[in-house]
Amino acid sequence: MKNFALIGAGGYIAPRHMKAIKDTGNNLIAALDKNDSVGILDSYFPEADFFTEFERFDRHIEKQKRKGIKTDFVSVCSPNYLHDAHIRFGLRIGANVICEKPIVLNPWNIDALAEIEKETGNRIFTILQLRLHPAIIALKEKIADEPVGKKHQINLDYITSRGHWYYTSWKGDVQKSGGIATNIGVHFFDMLMWIFGDVKENIVTQHSKETASGNLELENASVKWRLSIDYNTLPAEVKAAGKRTYRALTIDGESFEFSEGFTELHTKSYEQIIAGNGFPMMETRKAIELVHAIRNKESIR
Ligand SMILES: NC(=O)c1ccc[n+]([C@@H]2O[C@H](COP(=O)([O-])OP(=O)(O)OC[C@H]3O[C@@H](n4cnc5c(N)ncnc54)[C@H](O)[C@@H]3O)[C@@H](O)[C@H]2O)c1
Repeated sequence: MKNFALIGAGGYIAPRHMKAIKDTGNNLIAALDKNDSVGILDSYFPEADFFTEFERFDRHIEKQKRKGIKTDFVSVCSPNYLHDAHIRFGLRIGANVICEKPIVLNPWNIDALAEIEKETGNRIFTILQLRLHPAIIALKEKIADEPVGKKHQINLDYITSRGHWYYTSWKGDVQKSGGIATNIGVHFFDMLMWIFGDVKENIVTQHSKETASGNLELENASVKWRLSIDYNTLPAEVKAAGKRTYRALTIDGESFEFSEGFTELHTKSYEQIIAGNGFPMMETRKAIELVHAIRNKESIR
């Protein structure tokens, strides 16, 4: 049984990590959140020690280590801009790290972390849950079997409307989240590059706080993409049905469905990581390079 510590325990995604730790037969021994609304711990690990101050959390983990209670993994579920610091903490205390997406905001942050990985001998793993989705794995296998050079036409439209709160939260602050192409898009860009190959050309046609779009030329696909958190961009029929989310991915005009089966993918990620088959941090570098480039491009209007 492995011991885990978790950072960002009070947030939206943390329960999926708690469930994954439990489902894989492991233990959460300590958790940190600057906010004390973490009653969710009772559903998974009521015995876990909880801290709202980083210094006391750090001290506690060090003290436990001296008592022979080692923290094997640190799970990072904090806001994106804090991942880098929280990963460093995990490596420094002698743990491996499982970090939420996007692992960091800039490609050079990955290189700096790789040096610490080397120095400490501890590993950093990232959550790329779409790569574990059965429909996506099947698609990758199908594309890999095709003749070399075959090109596909892909259309990705992902609208997940958010209310006014979003702009007050760290998620609406480009310095903290990286903006929507980074925060929401990184999953899809990683998936598309994993299946259809590296980026040949990257054109951004729109990039505002609410909506980003562009054209991406991959080795085996031309991708037209749009990501939005703006309710007004929803198709009329989706609004009329009272829905706030719309996902459409078409490949050569055919719809590709992968909206089901998302919730178990964190547990699957943990199973793979603990078994030694996790996605190492470097696997995510190309997607981080792409979202960084999108963030810093002047869009064509
Ligand atoms: N894999 C996925 O599908 C998926 C989905 C949503 C979010 N995420 C990622 O998970 C991470 C968390 O997102 P979320 O939606 O849960 O956000 P959230 O805002 O709901 O949760 C973040 C938590 O971190 C805490 N926090 C903030 N600063 C802290 C600090 N200095 N020390 C300790 N705790 C701190 C906050 O109090 C909050 O409870 C982000 O990196 C996000 O991109 C991944």
